[in-house]
Amino acid sequence: MNVRSKNLLKACETLENNTSKDIKYRPKYHISPKVGWLNDPNGLCQYNGLYHIFYQYSPFDTKPGLNYWGHCTTKDFIHYEYHQPALCSDEKFDCHGVYSGSALVENGQMNIFYTGNVKQVGNFNYITNGREHNLVKVTSKDGFTFNGKHLVMTNSDYPKDVTCHVRDPKVWKEDDTYYMVLGARRIDDVGEALIYQSSDLETWKLINRLTTKEKFGYMWECPDIYNFNDVKILAVSPQGVEPLGYKYNNIYQSGYFIIDGNFKGEYKLSEFTELDNGFDFYAPQSFVDDNGRRILIGWLGLPDIDEYYSNPTKDWVHMLTIPRELSFKDGRVHQQPLEELKRLRKSTNNFMCSSERTFNIGTSFELIVEGLTNDFTIQLNDAIISYSEKVFKLEFGKSGMGRTFRAIQIDRVYKVQIFCDKSSLEIFLNDGENVLSSRFYPSDNIMDVTIKTNSADVKLFEI
Ligand code: FRU
Repeated sequence: MNVRSKNLLKACETLENNTSKDIKYRPKYHISPKVGWLNDPNGLCQYNGLYHIFYQYSPFDTKPGLNYWGHCTTKDFIHYEYHQPALCSDEKFDCHGVYSGSALVENGQMNIFYTGNVKQVGNFNYITNGREHNLVKVTSKDGFTFNGKHLVMTNSDYPKDVTCHVRDPKVWKEDDTYYMVLGARRIDDVGEALIYQSSDLETWKLINRLTTKEKFGYMWECPDIYNFNDVKILAVSPQGVEPLGYKYNNIYQSGYFIIDGNFKGEYKLSEFTELDNGFDFYAPQSFVDDNGRRILIGWLGLPDIDEYYSNPTKDWVHMLTIPRELSFKDGRVHQQPLEELKRLRKSTNNFMCSSERTFNIGTSFELIVEGLTNDFTIQLNDAIISYSEKVFKLEFGKSGMGRTFRAIQIDRVYKVQIFCDKSSLEIFLNDGENVLSSRFYPSDNIMDVTIKTNSADVKLFEI
């Protein structure tokens, strides 16, 4: 560890120890920054039995700044331990932030790849000049100490027709070969994914470039490639996509294409499907655990939303989503809350609802409303979740702090599963067919819940 790292870690510790004890909106079972700013989940992996969750973390401010990799571990997704940041920007090639990346566990070693961000001082546009996005590798033999940080690629290694924006390496192994996907912004303002191949994790060769026939945004951030049997998915977070009815209503999007053909050769990308239709979801990352489950965690937030939504937490912002298990059914990626989360359930209340029921609960709970056959409304203080005329809606009053409404067209809704955690809502429809994730800030610590429908089986769990 160099002196810059030592000092940065010390500064971080001091700030963390001075964070306010105001817990009104602090989540109970989500990862949030001890102090300052959090964004993308990074380096997700299971290593020596322990799940490691890293994340973009800047303890200095409630705005993105000099990003570290924050670090959290868990054995069971119930108890989490926060550690000192794993990576700090302590080298010339990452001096303005240890940006997003991934981990590949091989032969007892954690191999981490990330983007070293450098913003030169001067009169630059920071798109085609003035910015370096370096590919950096670092390894660990225990998951807590990280060694051998070094440069693997720089902007001059990327194709000539891309801007300086080439970042967020996701690395995986397939048939004894290593692959990496990087998100890129082309000079002609088209977003794409660059595919690299390697046999030793050090030397990388560009083998393909994936994009759509018609332009779909100017930049693709945080790409991820995975498959469900022979269905191959390219997940990306595109920027610059215009709203289309109920679709693409957030400032930036997050979702996936199905790759028809070969990601290494001839291919065509399907239409884009959003992974989440709520107000706050971005830059998700997935990994496979020792049980063979593909688990996804996203950022329960978005960049550049300060001008739209106000935020009442003073010295920390943002959180990660709950972990979700991915599967593929009926042509769609499904997301289910991880099985382990059932162990969070404390007191239970089960009842049938055949017209209207009202009850109270604290602001961390899980609510399942199933056996739905008709239109319904579920009200959580001033947040209204409803289904009518084949439109599912999420609407906020004051508690949305500027968030108004999001909706999706959906033929039937038979089950709604809601995870509420102080200032977040994650709503799973029909066992993960659709998900809507949002922040909100209820004024009270007690939630008044009203369910209106002609038939439903309700289960309520305090968490
Ligand atoms: C996505 C993103 C990434 C980048 C990181 C920096 O939210 O912009 O593309 O690596 O955040 O914090």
